[in-house]
Amino acid sequence: MLIRNKDKINGQISIIIPTYNESQNIINILKSIKENLPKNIIAQTIVVDDNSPDGTGKLVEEYLKNLKKMTGYTIEIIHRKAKDGLGSAILKGIQQAKGDTIVVMDSDFSHPPQIIPKLIESIKKYQFDIAVASRYINGGKIQGWSLKRKFMSKFATLIAKKGLGIDTKDPMSGFFAFKRNILKELNIDAIGYKILLEILVKTKGVNIKEVPYTFQDRELGSSKLGIKTIVDFYKSVWKLYRYGKPLEKQEKRSSVKFLSKAARFYTVGASGFVVNYVISLLFTGGISEMWYLHANVIGIIVSITTNFILNKTWTFGDRDFKLKKTISQYGKFVMFSSLGALVQLGMVYFLVDNVEIVYPLALILAVMVAAFGNFVLNKKWTFKEKLVN
Ligand code: GDD
Ligand code: MN
Repeated sequence: MLIRNKDKINGQISIIIPTYNESQNIINILKSIKENLPKNIIAQTIVVDDNSPDGTGKLVEEYLKNLKKMTGYTIEIIHRKAKDGLGSAILKGIQQAKGDTIVVMDSDFSHPPQIIPKLIESIKKYQFDIAVASRYINGGKIQGWSLKRKFMSKFATLIAKKGLGIDTKDPMSGFFAFKRNILKELNIDAIGYKILLEILVKTKGVNIKEVPYTFQDRELGSSKLGIKTIVDFYKSVWKLYRYGKPLEKQEKRSSVKFLSKAARFYTVGASGFVVNYVISLLFTGGISEMWYLHANVIGIIVSITTNFILNKTWTFGDRDFKLKKTISQYGKFVMFSSLGALVQLGMVYFLVDNVEIVYPLALILAVMVAAFGNFVLNKKWTFKEKLVN
């Protein structure tokens, strides 16, 4: 007889609950998790407490002492010495977990334990690698958040998705499950709050399922989200953004390459401006009114040359200094720079004499306008790159 393995769930589940000052919630959430676990599984819950001043850790110890032994289910607690952040608390729990499937959730009832079976089912039965409890898919929502908090969350989500190229609708969720083995060989830093985001970035190509749920703002205790959390978040996005592509050559998004080269071009331009400005000052010190134009011409010639060398080698990464090619490039660069210089000179003259803006400011304005045109022209004609590539 063919035995169908339908609905049978094998392997151990580890549920990780980070806590900081959750004395009003922790015992109830532990009870609720127990009640909501699917019946036919082996599971462990791991509380990771950061020496909460309100005695959360002690409370759990007391509770465990009086708890009757259960079959197939254990609760344990990890005490860390100090508040070391949500991400690293979760990571600590993952390291200690025995399960092949890991569930991560908050302790303040914002993440309803009723969803746990659905997350486990997505992994165990439908073989997804990651199951994310999601506020931002059909059927999901947020209750009890101010408009400002909602906006901040949406904005951060947008940055994470667009900046890191993630399709998951709620990559900032703190409520998710995953197969432990997807983290094999991975180095998880756990900077900041958002460990799921890091997992999503570092495990591209895995199967992800989103399960809708209603995020309910906490009723007891207070949120630990502060300004540091927000700063850490943007830092971690920046770090993740650079993950796996330390060399500029590996960058594939053309808009990013364009912008990063433009940024270099502007930086070189700024150095040229310093050269230009210093020389101009040297020649205008104490001499007649009209001299600033002449001094500016000398400044421009010197800075064009330094700019050429820096842009060739650094901005466009061209280390080929064969004489003929270099001279021809220099010729074009000078031509475009002269064009830019004409624009710059005209603008400086106009701004100083007609609008009566002070010379240094006029120079800055004029340089900025001329520089962009120069960048585009040089990219295409001098260094023979596609405009956007
Ligand atoms: N061990 C430890 N250490 N736990 C912490 C720490 C810490 O430094 N900081 C926060 N926690 C615990 C809290 O006790 C709670 O159980 C959970 O982490 C979430 O903290 P909250 O302060 O309640 O977070 P929130 O409600 O502002 O943020 C929620 O929304 C995010 C999505 O926008 C959380 O659910 C996040 O997980 C979620 O990503
Ligand atoms: Mn919360």
